Amino acid sequence: MANDSLRRLASDFKTFLAAQDEDEFVSAAAPLRAAAAVSGGEPAPKPLPKMPEGETLTVEFPRADLPVAEKPSPTVLAPSAAPMAGQACSAAPAGNTPQPAPSTANELLMNTAQKTAALAELAETIKTCTRCPLGATRLNAVPGEGNVDAEVMFVGEGPGFDEDRQGRPFVGRAGQLLDKMIVAMGLTREQVFIANIAKCHPMTDPLHPEKHGNDRAPNAEEIACCRKYIEKQISIICPKYVVALGGVAAKALIADAKSLGALRGQFYDLHLDSVTLPRPVKILATFHPAALLRNPGWKKDAWTDLQMVMDQLGLQGARK
Ligand code: URA
Repeated sequence: MANDSLRRLASDFKTFLAAQDEDEFVSAAAPLRAAAAVSGGEPAPKPLPKMPEGETLTVEFPRADLPVAEKPSPTVLAPSAAPMAGQACSAAPAGNTPQPAPSTANELLMNTAQKTAALAELAETIKTCTRCPLGATRLNAVPGEGNVDAEVMFVGEGPGFDEDRQGRPFVGRAGQLLDKMIVAMGLTREQVFIANIAKCHPMTDPLHPEKHGNDRAPNAEEIACCRKYIEKQISIICPKYVVALGGVAAKALIADAKSLGALRGQFYDLHLDSVTLPRPVKILATFHPAALLRNPGWKKDAWTDLQMVMDQLGLQGARK
């Protein structure tokens, strides 16, 4: 059994690396990089995605070739802070409390020690949280982990079986693929921060937490109850980029009404309901690693997304 798992992991790893190193991943980015070389400057603009039919939310898609500071600011799609009717939160979610007038970013940004302390305090709160029913069925809450000064933060949907047992995010199969994606970007897990929208394991059958295949996405009520935690974490860390992994995280942090397909591949200015960010943070949505495990053909597009972040940060990616 253990051998089978190891074999499967090794084969996933090989496939993932092959896809990056050869045809799929690198060639997907090649035209962009070639254009940059010819012009001696930024990569050529990518064709902008079309707005979906009947779209009511206003989004401007910034040109991906401009440096972040020069990008036009898209209209922000702040998700609703309002809890759903009948939601199970036992305490009021953090509302739109008026924030003090912003002073300079440097004054508002915490230093490393302050971030560490604030995140540790928040993690303690999360570990005893019973705002929604997931608090009663979890084995361990999973606040998140990583570098408090990370430039890139990855946000998934919620803990699964393995994460519930270990109290750590992305430690199962999807986590192993996420680790490879991070390394492919030229980063390490220790350099980034990894967290989830929901902090406790959503189960289809909460009466049998020992069962495998018992994972589900957090529902709207659970997300509403948990939202203030991820928002606080992002505001404390204040990374340059948040990468939303999958539709649940993307819709929760960017826009409720769009599909992942419509959201991915573009940067958005991140605006949160319960906190004011000390400095602008960009968010990019891409596929969840679990979805990539099920649909390896999507890795090429995921890699193209991740390269957008790499380009902005000047990351060369893992060397062969
Ligand atoms: N899937 C997620 O969204 N988060 C985890 O931590 C693990 C799997």
